[in-house]
Formats: sequence, structure tokens, C-alpha cells
Amino acid sequence: MRNMRIGILGTGEVGQALGRGLVSVGHEVRMGSREAGNEKAQAWVSKTGERASAGTFADAAAFGEIVFVATIWSGTENALSLAGAKDLSGKVVVDVTNPLVSTPDAPPSLALGNTDSGGEQVQRWLPESRVVKAFNIVGKAHMFHPDFPGGPPDMFICGNDAAAKKTVTEICESFGWPVIDIGGIEGSRLLEPLCILWVLYGVRTNSWNHAFKLLRKSSIDQSP
Ligand SMILES: NC(=O)c1ccc[n+]([C@@H]2O[C@H](COP(=O)([O-])OP(=O)(O)OC[C@H]3O[C@@H](n4cnc5c(N)ncnc54)[C@H](OP(=O)(O)O)[C@@H]3O)[C@@H](O)[C@H]2O)c1
Repeated sequence: MRNMRIGILGTGEVGQALGRGLVSVGHEVRMGSREAGNEKAQAWVSKTGERASAGTFADAAAFGEIVFVATIWSGTENALSLAGAKDLSGKVVVDVTNPLVSTPDAPPSLALGNTDSGGEQVQRWLPESRVVKAFNIVGKAHMFHPDFPGGPPDMFICGNDAAAKKTVTEICESFGWPVIDIGGIEGSRLLEPLCILWVLYGVRTNSWNHAFKLLRKSSIDQSP
């Protein structure tokens, strides 16, 4: 794919990992936060090099031809409002969030699900954007160049716009991920619980080196 200008809303470790990956495959990345001059964003720019820059959420949204959303769920509506739906209109918006509720001494659970999802909520907040859910089912350490003994895991994505999913597929593939498109954005109702499964397995094994893969036979010889 051609090199693009990409905005990332979020200065956490997920935004930083995705930003490093995007820069290393040739894109220009602007990381956004609530306030310009955010220390984490500045440090990330210094480490990442000349194709990296930082600003506010609005700066990152305006800069990006594609914009990743990597904010804590409880701040996501505010972040999108600060970014401005107008500057995200028509753009591919990659929703990496998981709508987690943290409870002390218990694994996280989802703030919404089954009949709704974070991905659908992000699409409702940004009705003019082309939202694609991706990268939410794996830990930040494995988002770029996933290296597993059984071969690359699969990235499951969903969204309503076929061209947007094609663009996100190209990004995932450039990161080393085969992609499985599971359909419209309502597929987030399935992908967000997969994050909980990923976390629960990590908690039970005290290990974070796992990822999902769909195993398939080369010919379909059995019905379900
Ligand atoms: N941890 C993982 O491996 C993993 C994997 C897949 C998906 N995810 C999801 O990825 C997302 C990002 O995770 P993370 O750990 O990198 O970061 P995080 O700590 O969950 O979120 C950090 C970002 O949220 C913003 N934020 C916090 N409160 C806000 C508010 N009230 N209004 C607007 N923005 C607010 C911060 O803004 P400032 O920059 O201004 O401080 C910062 O940019 C989360 O939704 C997480 O569930 C995580």
C-alpha cells in the first residue's frame, strides 16, 4: 500500500506500539492526546523518528487519512468529541478499544455487549466515518510482527464499509497478520468478548504470549 498520513488517538502503550509499527512500514504518524505537549507522546516521538509527530486529538484527526482510536473506553466518547467528528468524516477509523470495566480483584468485564458493542457505539458517535474494528483481540506486545511458533495468528476485523476493511487488511498484512473479515460492525459483539478470553487465559497462566488462529481444512467436506 502507499505510504499514508495516519492519526492515532491515544498515548498509551497500544497507541505507541501501533504508531511504531506504522512508522516502521513507512507511514507518517501523528499521535494525539487531550493536551498538546503530552509527555508520553513527546517521548514516543523522540524514540520513533522523523516520521512521528504529536499534537492534540484534533491535530491527529485532521492529520490522518486514516485514524486509529486507542483510548481508554471511559474516555473514548470525549476523545472523539475533542477530535471532532467533522475531521473524521469519510475517513477510515480503526477502533482498537475494548469497552472494559475494571473491578478491583476481578478480571475485567465488558461495559456493553450481546446486543450492542463498543465498535457499534464508536460508529454511532462517528456516523460519517467508516469504522473498522481491529487489533482489539491481541496484546500490545504482539500487534506488530506477531511471532508465534505455530505461524502467524489471525486478525479478526469487522466493519460496514468494504473499502475501509480492504485498507485495514492491507495495514494488518503489512504488520504480518493474515486477516479474517467477519462482516459488519456488529461483529464487535463477538470480537470484544474475545479480548476478555485473551485476558482470562493470561491471568490463569500468568503469561501474555498467546493469540488466536482459525484452523481450516483446504476443502469444505463437512457441514457444521
Ligand atoms: N493493553 C492491550 O494490550 C490492549 C490490546 C488491545 C486493545 N486494547 C485497548 O486499547 C485501548 C488503549 O489502551 P492503552 O492501554 O494503550 O491506553 P489507556 O491507558 O487505556 O488509554 C490512554 C488514552 O486514553 C486517553 N484518555 C484517558 N481518559 C480520557 C478522557 N477522560 N477523555 C479523553 N481521553 C482520555 C488518554 O489521553 P491523554 O493522552 O490525554 O492522557 C490516553 O491517550 C483501550 O481501549 C484498551 O482496552 C488494549
